[in-house]
Amino acid sequence: MIHHKIDELSNCAVKFNFKKISFIKDGGFMRLRNVKGSREAIADSEFTRNDFENYKGKWHEVFGNDNPIHIEIGMGKGKFITTLATLNPNINYIGIEKYSSVLIRAIEKRKELEIDNLLFIRMDAVDILDAFAKDEVDKIYLNFSDPWPKDRHAKRRLTSRQFFDRYDAFLVQDGVVEFKTDNRDLFDFSLEEIKKTKFEVIDYTFDLHGNPKAAIYQGNVMTEYEEKFTQKGNPICKLVAKRKQ
Ligand SMILES: C[S@@+](CC[C@H](N)C(=O)[O-])C[C@H]1O[C@@H](n2cnc3c(N)ncnc32)[C@H](O)[C@@H]1O
Repeated sequence: MIHHKIDELSNCAVKFNFKKISFIKDGGFMRLRNVKGSREAIADSEFTRNDFENYKGKWHEVFGNDNPIHIEIGMGKGKFITTLATLNPNINYIGIEKYSSVLIRAIEKRKELEIDNLLFIRMDAVDILDAFAKDEVDKIYLNFSDPWPKDRHAKRRLTSRQFFDRYDAFLVQDGVVEFKTDNRDLFDFSLEEIKKTKFEVIDYTFDLHGNPKAAIYQGNVMTEYEEKFTQKGNPICKLVAKRKQ
């Protein structure tokens, strides 16, 4: 088994013709098995728009309607967003994922569905301002985002002030950010960090599944990681943030 830093993965996967290698990073990052040919399959897929710069400000045209647009950043294998898209045909969904080997699994799920409201982008969310224009997105989902435990990497966390500044640039005025994680350190960081942005936390819980009658639990759709960690007995934290009034 070869150990690599996950942030070195995309280069490694392109340079070398790996067949089955697990990439492991400490501090809560995921294991990733390289899937040969996934990059090419994604480029060819009718469900992806990897030339996202061409669609900035035009996503409603792409979907062919004025329905709200909800995005999930770091969607993994896409269980959450494909479920939501199936449940809510009047909402357009865009799933964003950095790694081809993961995104390909979402595309496989997507092929099985007869829906027209779900697209994917393979991108590092650090470039998200190149994909969306002002007021283009109504809701952002962040589920079990990578923790980046070292302080010097804090700005890479998807709930950092740097990312909230990006969200501010394309989220509608009363747009919502929802974040779920079992990582208490990352959650505590996020609660504090959001205070330093234009957003505020309007609801949160340290144990989402512990109180199914709470408003914050209603309509909950489980993600892959949520299922895994809930089965292990980890409490799931969730927060909902909106712009400060
Ligand atoms: C721990 S997994 C969670 C997957 C899924 N959201 C879930 O809850 O089951 C985090 C995912 O986010 C992706 N990711 C992390 N940072 C990202 C970034 N900057 N841009 C796009 N995707 C990212 C990772 O590749 C990984 O697939």
